[in-house]
Amino acid sequence: EEYRRLGQEHLFVGWETRPDEQRERLLRDLGELDASYFDTIEEILQGGEEGPKKIDPVDYVSLSESAGDPGLLIRGKEHLASGKCGFVTVAGGQGSRLGFDGPKGMYPISPIRKATLFHIFAEKILAASRKYGAAMPWYIMTSPLNDEETRGYFEERSYFGLDPERVRFFTQRLLPSFDSSGRLMLALDGGLFKNPDGHGGLIGALKKRGLIADMQKRGIEELFTFQIDNPLATVPDPVFLGKHLEVGSQVSSKVIAKAYPEEKLGVIGRIDGRATVIEYSDLSPENMNARSSSGELLYSQGSIAIHILNVAFLADESLKLPFHVARKKVQTLIPKPQASEIQEREAVKLEMFLFDTIPLAHRTLFFETRRQEEFAPLKNKTGVDSVRTCIDGQVEKAARRLERCGVEVPRDRDGKSLYKLEITPLFALDDESLGEAIGDEKPIIHGDRIFA
Ligand code: UTP
Repeated sequence: EEYRRLGQEHLFVGWETRPDEQRERLLRDLGELDASYFDTIEEILQGGEEGPKKIDPVDYVSLSESAGDPGLLIRGKEHLASGKCGFVTVAGGQGSRLGFDGPKGMYPISPIRKATLFHIFAEKILAASRKYGAAMPWYIMTSPLNDEETRGYFEERSYFGLDPERVRFFTQRLLPSFDSSGRLMLALDGGLFKNPDGHGGLIGALKKRGLIADMQKRGIEELFTFQIDNPLATVPDPVFLGKHLEVGSQVSSKVIAKAYPEEKLGVIGRIDGRATVIEYSDLSPENMNARSSSGELLYSQGSIAIHILNVAFLADESLKLPFHVARKKVQTLIPKPQASEIQEREAVKLEMFLFDTIPLAHRTLFFETRRQEEFAPLKNKTGVDSVRTCIDGQVEKAARRLERCGVEVPRDRDGKSLYKLEITPLFALDDESLGEAIGDEKPIIHGDRIFA
């Protein structure tokens, strides 16, 4: 009766003929569903799609500006050494484009030793704790779909040398998908068809697990926040942190110059006077190609999802992110009086995005970085943002780092490193440590080379 009233009676069609385990799954999923979700569905369907809003350009700290201020590095380093910084990784995605059987963080991606994404970041955090002599907790968001495997992996690999006390896993929510009339859909196992609630689910998940309180208890004030699939992310980055502190920013985000106007990166701008990131799909062709009087792209800077979040800001109970709607073809179970049928249908999927914290903050910062230094995400098996480009990005970054330390790197006619190169974070977290680790005796590179 209750579900009929909510317009969801289709879920029970053919109930008598459905296998017990399917019925149990559905009842369990419905039992866990917050009744207010039906109001959310209603609001989304009533609200319709919003048209493009008026955008204005927004300021960012350019590369030359941050490079010209040596005080930022000093300030950031001091804060790192004071033990007030932690790390947050969002790793609850489904990695569907990569098509890897397992959490994406378990994908072996370093150029030579094939360290996984989790391994690489664990080493960065371990190296940072050693370098700055401070305990730095790591909060890893998983989803109910990959949590067990992720935790098991860290156990099996002895947390890569990190103190297990300082690695906290927490799961984000799953939200049921629905069809264009707001009717919930069934997964092939007979339960509700669900998807993780987006990387913006981070805020709610941290609160639900009491982790904001945990951070405050540990004296953590700022969080380097990054996605699991970009091994180039420089974490921690003392200069970025220095600027974040100077501005008193609550949400700071790294940006890069877009390679071409249509590039699929969320761009930064201002809407209704507030700094924001506009998803590429929400950017009108006019804005995408808009240029200033000097011919430069007006919306040229894209977010690469590397942030510093202020813990006191996250603790605000009123912080609530909006939902974004995605439509996706899925295999679903259609209940029929005699036996359910599997069909492909379009599902409406609701997600929250972490960058939507930006317009909610009083003080924000956009901070430019170099694409080749910090952005080689692993999204696809082949083509753009793929295994190949991600490995190449790591090799080229290592090559440039070595050259900056005076090491000669053999290059081919296109200027690419002739050999695969890898510098482990424990060998050298940053250029300063690399210079010290290498010393005056510069190594000769004449084959693939790992600095470990
Ligand atoms: P993406 O959406 O780009 O990648 O998420 P994905 O989910 O891993 O893969 P696809 O889209 O299915 O191919 C970017 C980052 O946000 C995290 C992902 O784990 C990744 O680090 N994320 C995404 C979450 O933590 N939760 C989500 O619900 C979605």
